[in-house]
Amino acid sequence: MYAGTTHIVVAAGSGSRFGSGLPKQFCLLDGRPVVMHAIDALRRATPGAPVVLVISGPMLGMWRELCERHGFESPAVAFGGASRWESVRNGLALVSSDCTIVAIHDGARPLVTPEVVRAVVDEVAAGAQGAVPAVPVTDSLRRLECDAPSHGRAVDRSEYVAVQTPQAFRRDLLDLAYSRPFQSRFTDDASVMEAAGFTDLRLTPGSPVNIKITNPDDLAVAEIILSRHCQ
Ligand code: C5P
Repeated sequence: MYAGTTHIVVAAGSGSRFGSGLPKQFCLLDGRPVVMHAIDALRRATPGAPVVLVISGPMLGMWRELCERHGFESPAVAFGGASRWESVRNGLALVSSDCTIVAIHDGARPLVTPEVVRAVVDEVAAGAQGAVPAVPVTDSLRRLECDAPSHGRAVDRSEYVAVQTPQAFRRDLLDLAYSRPFQSRFTDDASVMEAAGFTDLRLTPGSPVNIKITNPDDLAVAEIILSRHCQ
């Protein structure tokens, strides 16, 4: 049913904000590496859709060992680069020529729900250039003043949403967007598509449980969410 879709899971970050020796996406959650949860969630949500995993070259040996230890079938593996953008571009090179939709997911988001995954893929299948899961912002927001960065001005948070992954796109347009030069303001794939002029990107419902493991405490939160939602 989802054979025309490929997932790229980017897991080549060094996790400098995480502060552990091991990048966050390989830390154990309920006894298994975070990124295995992410890959399994995508496989369950969209049966038949291949996955490409992007890891940093030096992690390959450890990844093979982890797969053996956990009886996990590894997807095709691409090697990452210095930026997330470069890692995605390297993953795209392994996507098969007959694939028409590519969804890109952070390996550090292990708890993505089937609804969130299917919503972005289905939106592109229905004709959008891309689809992005979003959730309301719950904190109050302030815009930093350029000339006084320790000050901020209140903004209306109802005008903003927080964006998650997976983000899905028409494969032909994503290839074009990623053939253009890197810009430092790219923080996700939607920003790469927009810079290339592909602006028909629909927002679909994200999920509050689809957290990105960023700080060590996030792992403890993920354990609790997993025990409450994913039995
Ligand atoms: O750093 P950040 O949390 O925004 O990274 C989001 C995802 O992108 C993570 O899963 C991380 O492993 C991945 N990434 C990557 N290659 C990089 C940087 C980040 O695959 N060079």
